[in-house]
Amino acid sequence: MNFNFTEEQLMIQQTARDFALSEIAPSAVERDIKAEFPYEIVKKLGELGFMGMMVSPEYGGAGLDTISYVLAMIEISKVDASVGVIMSVNNSLVCYGLEKYGSDYIKEKYLTPLAKGEKLGAFALSEPEAGSDATKQKTTADKDGDFYILNGIKNWITNGINADYYLVMATTDKEKGHKGISTFVVEKGTEGFGQGAKEDKLGIRSSDTCSLTFENCKVPKENLVWEEGKGFNFAMNTLNGGRIGIAAQAIGIAEASLEASIKYSKTRKAFGSTISNFQAIQFKLADMAVKVDAAKLLTLKAAALKDAGQSYAKEAAMAKLYSSKIAVECALEAIQIHGGYGYVREYLVERYLRDAKITEIYEGTSEIQRIIIARALLDQK
Ligand code: CAA
Repeated sequence: MNFNFTEEQLMIQQTARDFALSEIAPSAVERDIKAEFPYEIVKKLGELGFMGMMVSPEYGGAGLDTISYVLAMIEISKVDASVGVIMSVNNSLVCYGLEKYGSDYIKEKYLTPLAKGEKLGAFALSEPEAGSDATKQKTTADKDGDFYILNGIKNWITNGINADYYLVMATTDKEKGHKGISTFVVEKGTEGFGQGAKEDKLGIRSSDTCSLTFENCKVPKENLVWEEGKGFNFAMNTLNGGRIGIAAQAIGIAEASLEASIKYSKTRKAFGSTISNFQAIQFKLADMAVKVDAAKLLTLKAAALKDAGQSYAKEAAMAKLYSSKIAVECALEAIQIHGGYGYVREYLVERYLRDAKITEIYEGTSEIQRIIIARALLDQK
C-alpha cells in the first residue's frame, strides 16, 4: 500500500489550494450572507479544468483521476463548501454519467461544453414524493414521434437556477417500476421547462437550489441517455461517484474547522495561558484530527477503487456517511472552542456548521448510506 500522492496529484492539490485562497476566500462571507451565486469563480474553475476533472481530453476534460478530484474538492470546500457542491455536481453527477453512458452525439453536444466549464449541469432525480425512496418517480416521459414529452416536478436541484443542461430522470414505462425509468438531457429554455423560486437555505447558501417543472416539455429523442429503462441504474451509478465528491466536500469543512480551532486556541488567552495549553482543548483538537484523517482514508480508498475499475458503491457510502458525520461534529467542536466568537459570523466556524449539515442529507441521507452498506455486508441486493 502506498500513501504517497503522485507529483501530478500534489500539483492539482496545490493549484486548488492557491485558487481557493486567492479567488474564492475573499468573497465567501458576503456571498453566504447574500446567497449569491459565484459566477466568476465557476467560470475560472472551468478555465482551470476543475469542472470536468475526470473527463477525457477528447471531450474537453482534464483527464485526471478520482484521487486528484478528491484532493481538489477538499481544498475548494475548505474555503467555500458552496463552490464545492457546484463543482461536485457538474463533475460527478453530470459529466461522469454522460461520458460513461452518453451517445457520441450527447458527448459532443453536451458533455464537451460541460467539461470545459462553458456550460453548467444539474442532476434532477428527487421529486416532492420521491426523495430517499427514489424508485417512486412520478415524472413521465411519453414517446411521441421523434420526441419525448416530459411532465412532472423535480425538487432540491443543485445548480437548478444557473445550469444550462439538466439530467432528468422520468418514467417511460410505468408498468416496469424502476426498470421503466429513463434519463434525458434537457436544455434550459426548452418549451415547457420551468424553474421554481430559489430556496432560502440554512447553509451552502451561495449555491442555488430550486424545483423544476415540466409541462408537456418536448425533448428530442436523441437526448435519451443510455437506453430506455436504464435511467434508475444510471442515477444509482452516478450517485456512487457523487458520494465520493460529497465526502470530500465534508472533509474540507471538517479540516477548515480543525485549522480554525488550532489557530484560535493558540491566540486566545484564559486563566493566564493560551487555551491551547489546556487538555480540555487539546483533546478536542486531537479527536478532530483523528476524525479528519479517518474520513480522508475512507474517501481516498473509495476513489482509488473507482480509479482501479473495481466496485466502490459500499466504500463510497461509507466515505460519505462518515465524512458528513464528522464534518458536523468538527464544526460543532470548533464553535465550542471559539466560545461566543464561534457563534458570530466573523470567525467563520458558524458557517462551517450550517454548510456541514446538508452533507448528511443530499446525494443520499446517512440513513440511505447505512442501507447501502448493510445490504452489501449481508449480500442483499
Ligand atoms: N449502486 C448501483 N446500483 C444500485 C445502488 C448503488 N448504490 N443502489 C441500488 N442500486 C440498484 C439495484 O442494484 C437495483 O438494480 P436492478 O434493478 O438493476 O437490479 C436498483 O438500483 C433498485 O434497487 P433496490 O431494489 O435496492 O431499490 P430500493 O428501493 O430497495 O433501494 C435505494 C434503492 C438504494 C434506497 C435508492 O433509492 C437510493 O439510493 N435512494 C437515495 C436517492 C439519492 O441519493 N438521492 C439524492 C438525489 S441527488 C441530490 O442530492 C441533489 C443534488 O443536486 C446534489
